[in-house]
Amino acid sequence: MIDSIRGQSLLTLEGLSARALVEILDTAESFVEVQSRSVKKVPALKGHVVASLFFEESTRTRLSFETAAKRLSADVLSLAVASSSVKKGESLRDTISTIDALGIDAVVMRHSSSGAALQVSRYVPHVRVINAGDGQHQHPTQGLLDAFTVRQILGERHGTSGQESGSELFKGLHVLIVGDVRHSRVARSDIQAYTALGAQVQIAAPGTLLPPDMTGWPVTLAEDFSEALEWADVVALLRLQRERGSGSFVPSLAEFTSSFGLTIERARRLRPETIIMHPGPMNRGVEIDSRVADLPAAVIARQVSNGVPVRMAALYLSVAGLKRDGAL
Ligand code: CP
Repeated sequence: MIDSIRGQSLLTLEGLSARALVEILDTAESFVEVQSRSVKKVPALKGHVVASLFFEESTRTRLSFETAAKRLSADVLSLAVASSSVKKGESLRDTISTIDALGIDAVVMRHSSSGAALQVSRYVPHVRVINAGDGQHQHPTQGLLDAFTVRQILGERHGTSGQESGSELFKGLHVLIVGDVRHSRVARSDIQAYTALGAQVQIAAPGTLLPPDMTGWPVTLAEDFSEALEWADVVALLRLQRERGSGSFVPSLAEFTSSFGLTIERARRLRPETIIMHPGPMNRGVEIDSRVADLPAAVIARQVSNGVPVRMAALYLSVAGLKRDGAL
């Protein structure tokens, strides 16, 4: 078990202990306040250079990582892949070596290939690599911001800060993850975050959208979706990943929605305190009814906002790697 990511790359949540996760969540909490300052900056990574390399589309992750790096006063090199020499056939290895030659401390990378972030960490071992999503494998900062959002909401209800509660609020929490688990890196990272912190996780999905081998997954499969919805304290919906061919894994989108979509009728039967989450981008009308997405119980915009302090924490711990003296 890894007890801290200080000074380390963040490639996966697999193997991170509750202590390591809580350290990241607590660090993120200390950065929340920076968002409300008139000058939204701290000097924590002044003089450091962060490269932002998104080989796959992104809105939330890219913008929040770049915002996070800038709020930490890092310099950001942002590669526009579509107009870069990648389009002339330059390999990932040569692309990384070229960017490394400019002098960088960290790479934030998204790639469609599972394992790409690990590969880059081997090409440039002196650079810290933060995985911003690799294929179907991992999306560690999404798992972290989802856990952070849940802890923040539960803390508000209990009148405690997240830092006071550590992982206590997750003990016995019921998290239901619904939809395209097979293709979802978010599901994999969420499961690792929630279970390491002490929550129980159930999965609800059509059999065709489950991974072929779930040996060792610390989850149970929901036998009855309606019962699972009643059981859940948190309902985490997944995007049906049509770009990864998910559409062909279900008879039709309408049939998927009718069996596993969070329709307004299903949402009305949730307990009032149940938290509804979606990592985005949403397929409104497919995995989530548009009216459900706009309910107060749906915390989708809050997840996006929390992406910034959580990614500040990941960058800060990974790149600076030293204990802060409290002066931000
Ligand atoms: N949740 C998420 O990864 O969204 P983006 O693809 O927009 O970054």
